[in-house]
Amino acid sequence: MRATASRPTDPDTIESRVSALIAEMSLPEKIGQMTQLNASEGYPPDYLGDRLRAGMVGSVLNQVDVHTVNELQRIAVEESRLGIPLLVGRDVIHGFKTVLPIPIGQAATWNPELVKEGARVAAREAAAAGVNWTFAPMIDISRDPRWGRIAESPGECVLLASRLAVAMVEGFQGEDVSAPDSIAACAKHFAGYGAVESGRDYATTNIPDTKLRNVYLQPFKAAVDAGVMTVMTSFSDLNGVPPTGNEWLLRDVLRDEWGFEGLVVSDWDSVRQLQVHGLTEDDKASASEAAIAGVDMEMAGDAYFNHLATLVEEGTVSIDIIDAAVANILRAKLRLGLFEQPYTKPDDLPAFSNEIALQTAKTTALQSVVLLKNDDGTLPLSSEALSSVALIGPLADAAYEQLGTWIFDGNVDLSVTPLQSIRQLVGDDVDVRYVRAMQNSRSRASAAFDDAVAAAEQSDAAVLFLGEESILSGEAHSRADISLPGDQAELVRRIRQTGKPVVAVILAGRPLTLSNIVDEVDAILYAWHPGTMGGPAIAELLFGIESPSGKLPATFPRVVGQIPIYYSQKNGGKPPTRDTVVHIDEIDTFAPQTSLGMTSFHLDTCFTPLFPFGHGLSYASFEYRGIRVSAGEIRLGSTVTISAELRNAGDTAAEEVVQLYTRDLVASITRPVRELKGFRRVRLEPGETRTVEFELHTDELSFYGRDMKLTVEPGLFHAWIGGSSDTALRTEFRIVDL
Ligand code: NOJ
Repeated sequence: MRATASRPTDPDTIESRVSALIAEMSLPEKIGQMTQLNASEGYPPDYLGDRLRAGMVGSVLNQVDVHTVNELQRIAVEESRLGIPLLVGRDVIHGFKTVLPIPIGQAATWNPELVKEGARVAAREAAAAGVNWTFAPMIDISRDPRWGRIAESPGECVLLASRLAVAMVEGFQGEDVSAPDSIAACAKHFAGYGAVESGRDYATTNIPDTKLRNVYLQPFKAAVDAGVMTVMTSFSDLNGVPPTGNEWLLRDVLRDEWGFEGLVVSDWDSVRQLQVHGLTEDDKASASEAAIAGVDMEMAGDAYFNHLATLVEEGTVSIDIIDAAVANILRAKLRLGLFEQPYTKPDDLPAFSNEIALQTAKTTALQSVVLLKNDDGTLPLSSEALSSVALIGPLADAAYEQLGTWIFDGNVDLSVTPLQSIRQLVGDDVDVRYVRAMQNSRSRASAAFDDAVAAAEQSDAAVLFLGEESILSGEAHSRADISLPGDQAELVRRIRQTGKPVVAVILAGRPLTLSNIVDEVDAILYAWHPGTMGGPAIAELLFGIESPSGKLPATFPRVVGQIPIYYSQKNGGKPPTRDTVVHIDEIDTFAPQTSLGMTSFHLDTCFTPLFPFGHGLSYASFEYRGIRVSAGEIRLGSTVTISAELRNAGDTAAEEVVQLYTRDLVASITRPVRELKGFRRVRLEPGETRTVEFELHTDELSFYGRDMKLTVEPGLFHAWIGGSSDTALRTEFRIVDL
């Protein structure tokens, strides 16, 4: 357990302690602080202990045995000259022992309060293992579902990602970051990583400055404003200068413009990778570039350790740069209260996976599942009306796979699968026939399909558990074809032929292209990788104990060739309409045709996505009408209220995420056709009507223009309210500069 009394939260005290320590430190000790070692690496005996004793390690990562962590802290604190405690880092991305839905699933809740609670659960559990620093939240906006790391991302939208970034920072760090159950957060990967070319992990990113500032940097700015203690640089190349060596990004923007006073850590070995990128000649030059650019600590590499001292002695890297980096590191340790209480007493913290943790995981899973389609009210299934159901597919009972990527510490034994939960929920009322049908999602053997067909034929309905295993998404797990892998589409087709109602529950780490199955099933519940409590959540949604309320945090393309497709695209000079598009099958081969519509579309698919951003159905029936704006004209610097009436015309109480979008019609740089500007989760009883209001300040309509200055330009704005980004319920207002 960490600090209990006399925590040095007063900034002046912290600064004077930082200065006093730096004055006492030798250059090797300073460089030691700038070094993070992988504590699970197979070092020779005594290597780690000796380096700690010599004061040559600032942080370790990947050690979560609390006794070992305490012992490492003890050596650092009691056996090193200056007794500086360690930052103990770990990827606590979506839970620790209790696994919450993957971050893209959490984003689908559109519920920052709940996401914050999830981060608190994760912080409490990780803190009990001695971890005091998580490498989360990952807040890379991603508009490319081929990218495996979209699983870890908050999705495609600036506002949603920014709100969730703040929620996670607040959740991990708590109200008092020196409290025993709080840990430092890390906003990563700064910046632009989500835009890797063709969704291939670690690839290049080329992002125009206006887009970088208006889109990719926004969640990081929000995290910094929320007090995130650390920032991690990205592996990728950014417009020719990889972030780990990018002084403009790390100093001009992060420090000077945004006033960030925390610690900047590299990604794993990304200092040395500057040479692989072709930015530097060797490790020494990489250490120099990274230090000068503003990377305070090197993760799991030894370029700093081996070369910084020489670089300082030669005068290439100034001692001021070193001192500033060390100050950032010591400040973090002081703010965490590690000097007062470096040791962890797990018994003083809540037990792992207690009731609150499991309930938070379940509520998050419940709210993360998106009902993509539901023909003729196929769902919910009724345990009274059904006498039997066939549960088919490789992911119905896959305790590990439902946890998703980045679950180093997740306890798979806690996982409750959909099969277990459905059996428990329906008891003896409904006969459950389970056929796995495929060994895994990638299988190409269809021998067991006959059993699946037989089970469906003998049942009143078939529920297919499809998707992709956790290994198909996450870091270095990108895909070029993001349809259901293996023979899953064929399995769907075979089950369809039985004529029984077919429901697909899809567990996946990304938006998949579902065009080849969407018309073959009656309903689709998209469950992402829902975590420990995925089973109970899915069961309760299938049988209508709860209504689905998740909304898509990323657009679902029809085919890979549409990527990038996202709701906030620009209009272009020749936007497509339903009247201008021509499909490849409609081209008349014999008549000479020179024009095929002359607008911006693909000949072989529709110009719209399969499911738009913000989409998500409910068992209730929500109707929007009566959009109003408080004033047709508002002055710069004031607020406008935009409202609409929402009615639950169904017979089920349910939650709906109401969304506000705007468009700046004419501006000095072209602006997106829609931008999310507000959202709110509301619960309505059957027959209830509520007016949902959003207050919008003109500052929230600002953007970085040609001169890279944040500006709001007067003029006409459209505003929409609805249950998805394609809502047609529109009003308008004008900003005037009086
Ligand atoms: C590499 C990943 O890019 C980063 O997100 C993670 O935090 C580090 N490895 C540490 O595991």
